[in-house]
Amino acid sequence: MREPFALANYLSRWIPTVRHDLASSDSETTRLTDLLDLAGPDDRDRWHGLGFGYLDPRGAAWLRAAVAARHGGLGTDDVLCCAGAQEALACVTAALLTPADHAVVVLPIYQPSEEAVTARCAASGVPLREEAGGWRLDVAEVAAALRPETRLVLMNMPNSPTGAALDPETAADLVALCRRRGLWLVGDEVYRHTPARGGTPPVADLYERGVSIDSLSKGFGLAGLRVGWIACRDRSLLAAALNAKNRMSSCLSAASEVLAHMALRADDRIPARSRAIGEGNRARLDALVLRHPDRFEPGPSDTLAFAFPRYRGPEGAERFAHDLARRADILVLPSSLWRSRLGPVPTDRLRIGLGRLGAPAALDALDADLHATAPRRAMAG
Ligand SMILES: Cc1ncc(COP(=O)(O)O)c(C=O)c1O
Repeated sequence: MREPFALANYLSRWIPTVRHDLASSDSETTRLTDLLDLAGPDDRDRWHGLGFGYLDPRGAAWLRAAVAARHGGLGTDDVLCCAGAQEALACVTAALLTPADHAVVVLPIYQPSEEAVTARCAASGVPLREEAGGWRLDVAEVAAALRPETRLVLMNMPNSPTGAALDPETAADLVALCRRRGLWLVGDEVYRHTPARGGTPPVADLYERGVSIDSLSKGFGLAGLRVGWIACRDRSLLAAALNAKNRMSSCLSAASEVLAHMALRADDRIPARSRAIGEGNRARLDALVLRHPDRFEPGPSDTLAFAFPRYRGPEGAERFAHDLARRADILVLPSSLWRSRLGPVPTDRLRIGLGRLGAPAALDALDADLHATAPRRAMAG
């Protein structure tokens, strides 16, 4: 029996009943009417003339071209569309890994991604380290974890739940290491559309064996379309991934292809809205954290999708999150949900979602609860 999927189980236990969702990592959704308003004439024609036969298994050429246009130097045939990032990653691991291989996985990581590797080969975890400016990857630790049979390095950057992103020097060092050792560098980059600052280029743009996994699920608020992709300059990898994908699903949803194209072609307008919502919510959360220094320690984060403060209360982050859901109808995620078989992950943190329009009301409710449950201080004198 497989290990239970801790995060999914926690969400399905609480999301249907809680009033305030500070758990989700996807941005406020984009509605059909908004997409149709943003659509150019070509997409409107596609939408009105839509048929529902089998489609190109790689994704429509115009959709793949729109994805490639978000990269530097990639073309239509450097992209393979999949049903979300999760399917994309499963296809990449199926294409690259055999039982004789070894992989390095940067922790923490989304549980299905870790399992997509560990189901296929031996793996070692390399944890992100907390430093003054945030969570960082030490490339020397990746180098130390390599074995002669190591075939790939997998990471999720910007990272959930820590909010870490690769700075340009670390990215360059990592690419240099992978190139020296002939490794594939697989980056789950689903949180790339709402960076808190700057942002690093996708690994597919940096390295000939860089494999970028991405989707419209997070910063575009379009998880329900189930459109994701693999971008890579190595066509043989994409052919092997397509071989794996053809065994899972024959093609994308016809309606989703057109709607995804509308979203990608609308310049940067959808992620820009998501970033504006995230910035407003981040400012509110920062103020809340400062009002409750005995409960929270601020933690810098490179993404506007969520924050990752340390919880300082004596009961610990996991107990606090659970009690908060029960007593105040507010859902936040304890970092222990990212537990891994490959190594330790932080257990004293909360992941607090910043992407939704409902977050201000949820943060007000959290503030009220923190005041109501604050330990009474001894009276002076
Ligand atoms: C890091 C990470 N990767 C992948 C996924 C799955 O993305 P998708 O919905 O596009 O399959 C998630 C969803 O929560 C995620 O957090």
